[in-house]
Amino acid sequence: MAPVLEVADLKRLARRRVPKMFFDYADSGSWTESTYRANEDDFGEIKLRQRIAVDMSGRSTATQMIGQDVAMPLALAPTGFCGMQHADGEILAAQAAEEAGIPFTLSTMSICSIEDVAENTSKPFWFQLYMMRDREFMTNLIGRAKTAGCSALMVTLDLQVLGQRHKDLRNGLSAPPRLTPKHIWQMATSPFWCLGMARTQRRTFGNIVGHAKNVSDLTSLGAWTAEQFDPRLSWDDIEWIKERWHGPLILKGILDTEDARRSLDCGANAIIVSNHGGRQLDGAPSSIRALADIVDAVGDKVEVHVDGGIRSGQDILKSLCLGARGTYVGRPFLYGLGAMGKEGVTRMIEIMRNELDITMALCGERNVTDLSRSNIYSAFGETIR
Ligand code: GLV
Repeated sequence: MAPVLEVADLKRLARRRVPKMFFDYADSGSWTESTYRANEDDFGEIKLRQRIAVDMSGRSTATQMIGQDVAMPLALAPTGFCGMQHADGEILAAQAAEEAGIPFTLSTMSICSIEDVAENTSKPFWFQLYMMRDREFMTNLIGRAKTAGCSALMVTLDLQVLGQRHKDLRNGLSAPPRLTPKHIWQMATSPFWCLGMARTQRRTFGNIVGHAKNVSDLTSLGAWTAEQFDPRLSWDDIEWIKERWHGPLILKGILDTEDARRSLDCGANAIIVSNHGGRQLDGAPSSIRALADIVDAVGDKVEVHVDGGIRSGQDILKSLCLGARGTYVGRPFLYGLGAMGKEGVTRMIEIMRNELDITMALCGERNVTDLSRSNIYSAFGETIR
């Protein structure tokens, strides 16, 4: 096997090993995918300031996110269908994150349930909540996250209405996959994936099936999800959530300075500058372009994190220079899982940590907590130094 040196190597392997409909689910944005592409491309618009003859010994990437110690300022983002990239994917990714000393966030739309992940890990993980119309189910879900010992609740605010992803519609995506000739062919030509799936029972949305009222099988799940994402979601719902969740709170999906200012009233521990990986409003700016203005607007009052387009430790560093206190990756860890299971996620984290560490050294810094705009030469056509 060719050496795995960067996230692109994991992506190539995952493309070969994961059935097309699930690989495409990860590797897609909405409509023309312009925001999905911009998320990655815009990191190239930031040039770093090289420094020399600075003592670079004793470097550290350790810091805190929402007051919790992390080995590096990177968390695994909530991703739906993670357990369809590889059998038991959420459990394996959570274990890899725990061993690496970084947070793992479990999605509401995960395949392994909150309880499955809690039983198979030893440190608390974070739980991501989608606001659904069925408030009784919401109350239960928050209660289950509390019982499982989750150490933060992340509320996603940018998906009242689902962005249209053409690849998913063309592929007829579902979990478990429907058994049409096309789907059977995709699975039959993915033996590594099939072997894992044959060994697990976790093949549908574990947080929902058997927990939400009248959702016991695939047919009832399909009907339920279609009507559940709540288009009436408003800032008042955050108060409703806080009456039920008293722990650390993270708000995800902020891309606009006005929304960032409004979010301050919610008393969240952190906000995430995010366009949902380019999967919602196609045509919105990349997260990294939106970051600095949001940091300037609210960064002294709330911790600002960012996700979208981070494919290397250099991208993490650039985000920190622009004021983020934490970053997230979704697709890179899904590619790791699809390529090599848990080992692939571990490899992805090691690759990013190494890239972050070396870049930091070559910028003349020894601690991630010291990075600032002064480490950037220019960004988006503007000279900073
Ligand atoms: C869900 O969060 C998705 O983007 O598919």
